[in-house]
Amino acid sequence: MSAYEEQIERPGRLEELSASLGRPARLPPLKRLLPRGFMGRSVLILLLPLVLLQVIATWVFYDRHYDNTTWRLAQGLAGDVEVTLLLLDDPAMPQARVLDMAQDIFWMRGRILPDTELGESVAPRFGSILHERLQAALMERLGPRFAIDTVSLEKEVVVEVDLGEDLLHLEVNRKRLFSVTTYIFLAWMIGSSVVLFVVAFLFLRIQVRAISRLAKAAELFGKGLDLPHYRPEGADEVRQAATAFIQMRERIKRQLEQRTAMLAGVSHDLRTPLTRMKLELAMLRDSPEIDSLKQDVGQMERMIEGYLAFARGEGREEAKPTDLGDLLRRIVADAERGGAQIDLHIEQPLVLDLRREGIRRAVGNLIANAHRYGGAVSVRVGRRRGGVEILVDDTGPGIPEAQREEVFKPFVRLEESRNPDTGGTGLGLTIARDVARSHGGELTLHDAPTGGLRARLWLPL
Ligand SMILES: Nc1ncnc2c1ncn2[C@@H]1O[C@H](COP(=O)(O)OP(=O)(O)OP(=O)(O)O)[C@@H](O)[C@H]1O
Ligand SMILES: [Mg+2]
Repeated sequence: MSAYEEQIERPGRLEELSASLGRPARLPPLKRLLPRGFMGRSVLILLLPLVLLQVIATWVFYDRHYDNTTWRLAQGLAGDVEVTLLLLDDPAMPQARVLDMAQDIFWMRGRILPDTELGESVAPRFGSILHERLQAALMERLGPRFAIDTVSLEKEVVVEVDLGEDLLHLEVNRKRLFSVTTYIFLAWMIGSSVVLFVVAFLFLRIQVRAISRLAKAAELFGKGLDLPHYRPEGADEVRQAATAFIQMRERIKRQLEQRTAMLAGVSHDLRTPLTRMKLELAMLRDSPEIDSLKQDVGQMERMIEGYLAFARGEGREEAKPTDLGDLLRRIVADAERGGAQIDLHIEQPLVLDLRREGIRRAVGNLIANAHRYGGAVSVRVGRRRGGVEILVDDTGPGIPEAQREEVFKPFVRLEESRNPDTGGTGLGLTIARDVARSHGGELTLHDAPTGGLRARLWLPL
């Protein structure tokens, strides 16, 4: 066995790997909050700085620009109020004239309320820059003899000034205190972010699709299937990975074909001299030595037949969607015709891509073993560990833990069963594991709860 085979030989390794992909181990709390997909993460990487930038920009903007503008506007208004007051004080100017002017020029609707006391200012409950600035600007110009109300009217702000006995009531259009640029700026920020986000999202999707397709192709190849028309796509790095994968896939396919062809060739070529030997032996007179030689030649012949069958089985059988329960029922029926007693339990209907002949041989071999070396056979199938599990249990002596890997090697039979009566060439488990792995699955041996051996054939879904 090569070092490579030795390495992938570890029992249950593929099973572990596949299961760990489906069900992640427990993650630390922060990682659990983060998106797990590439798409989610990329969007987060993009979105987080964007939102941060916006928040900072908006904050700076409000702090500086908005504040500044509002202050200037409030100062302007305070100046206009002061001018109005000065004009009202001028005996040469009739009051009505002054109020008309204030309305036309300053956008302030005013009237004099005779014998009225100055009220309290009314401010918004959560405070506002506009209110504060206006208050401060008026204070600068007029001192404390005024009150403002920035809440009650929707389109106006009320400014009242104490004129001694009377009260000047002014309703100022809010537009005078309000800079639209604030909202235009915000709209631009949000609008441009949304556009950026959508564009990035669309581009990212293409990249993610390329990676997903590569993953899909690799996964299918692992199961012995092909993703038709798969070609490298997406960013350079993804293409590179895809090209490397395709080359690897071709190499593995070629290697498998070579191995199979060689196996078949050697087995076939050995058959001719063996047949000659058998003929020659038949012509010799009977003696104990000749008998034993005949037995050896017979065994060699069986081995070679086994190898040939193995090599043929590796041929290109296509995986097709198959009802596993149905297939198992048929395999079990065949085995029962051969005299086995089998208890079959199918937990739920399962349809998956299978090489039917391969599975028939693999499960058939497991059942034959259980029948031959065990006794009562039970077969159960169900969904487990992110795939499908077929368990073949028996009530026989089982296999000692230390030898459970050994028996998967070609032609290995345990000492007790060297007895030629039990037949067998020692290829059954080798073939069964090969079939399991060509589906991306695994075959392992365990203790059965019934006392004998449990063969666990796991296939990915
Ligand atoms: N259910 C079992 N209980 C006990 N021993 C077993 C069981 N299955 C297999 N073995 C042991 O493992 C060995 C290898 O099994 P394997 O199926 O590969 O070959 P085989 O049954 O001897 O021959 P073949 O299946 O090629 O006709 C067997 O010879 C037997 O000693
Ligand atoms: Mg066998």
